[in-house]
Formats: sequence, C-alpha cells, structure tokens
Amino acid sequence: MDVAISLGSFCYFKWANNIVVVLNSLIKQRCLENQVKLRGSFCMGMCPSEEVSIKIADDMFSVNPNEIAEFFETKIKRWLES
Ligand code: FES
Repeated sequence: MDVAISLGSFCYFKWANNIVVVLNSLIKQRCLENQVKLRGSFCMGMCPSEEVSIKIADDMFSVNPNEIAEFFETKIKRWLES
C-alpha cells in the first residue's frame, strides 16, 4: 500500500513532518514495513485546509495531526485487512 503525505508548504506548516514520524513509528511497531510504503508528495491541491492531505491509492483524506493514530487504525489498518 502506497501512502502519500503532502509535504507542500501549507501541509508542512500543519505538521506534516510530524505525521510522517508518527506513521513511521506505528508501521514499525506493527511490523508493517513490507506492506505500507510512506512517501512525501508535492501539494495535492487540497489546501488551504486546517489539516494535512494524505492519499491512499486514489482516495484523498484530510488528517488532523492530533488524530493520526486514529487515522492509522481506521484507514490504513482496515485497508490492509480488507
Ligand atoms: S500543501 Fe498540502 S494539499 Fe496543498
């Protein structure tokens, strides 16, 4: 699964870099390194937003950095289990 995180300037200032750190940590904790690939992306055209833009396959999400653990459980893990 390819998870793209916008590192465009607007998302960067909304703590996109922290999202990368937390997601990397969650992926390693769950030993999902071979199943989930994180990558940075240019602006996804969803700004301005109060949240960070993330794309999984063709699905776009706006994610609050304070809710990234919930996003991981509800979107990424469920995606993997489906
Ligand atoms: S900078 Fe992230 S969507 Fe534009």
